[in-house]
Amino acid sequence: MEYMLNICNKLHDDHMITISLMERIETALPRIGRKSTPDMAEAALSSLLSDLQVAMQNEVTSHFAFEEENLFTRIEAMGETPMIDMLLGEHEIIRPMAAELMQAVKAARSDGFSADSWQAFYELGLDLAERETFHIQKEEMGFLPLLEQIIDDDDDADLCRAYDAHQLAG
Ligand SMILES: [Fe+2]
Ligand SMILES: [Fe+2]
Repeated sequence: MEYMLNICNKLHDDHMITISLMERIETALPRIGRKSTPDMAEAALSSLLSDLQVAMQNEVTSHFAFEEENLFTRIEAMGETPMIDMLLGEHEIIRPMAAELMQAVKAARSDGFSADSWQAFYELGLDLAERETFHIQKEEMGFLPLLEQIIDDDDDADLCRAYDAHQLAG
């Protein structure tokens, strides 16, 4: 999908990266199974873990913060508070889950999984994948189309600069 605003396309690109990662979780974990602790030497799992570490960090730090600081505030000012309360509430649920998942990924990459840590990772991973996917679908269906209606070209350029600064700041 192509948006008219550059800022919407930047957010959309982030969303697609996250969605494809969530799809990889939803495919890889059930394929291994909750009860069979995987071998860390398995290439597909080890590349999924390293991609997760990088992308989730960006998602829940710079992407979420950018949306909250620069965009949710504008939509809230228009009176669209129910939508923003819902999206913000989802960020607040996803953020600690992603932090926990990143901790689990870090521990697994250094020490491997035990039966218990794999089961915890399995449940957390699938729960996070479902919540993130649903959150992104809502933003793509309601939030980005609304931004397209309220942001003009000058604002778009300013927002893109702010977005790039966020990316650099990590
Ligand atoms: Fe969001
Ligand atoms: Fe988003």
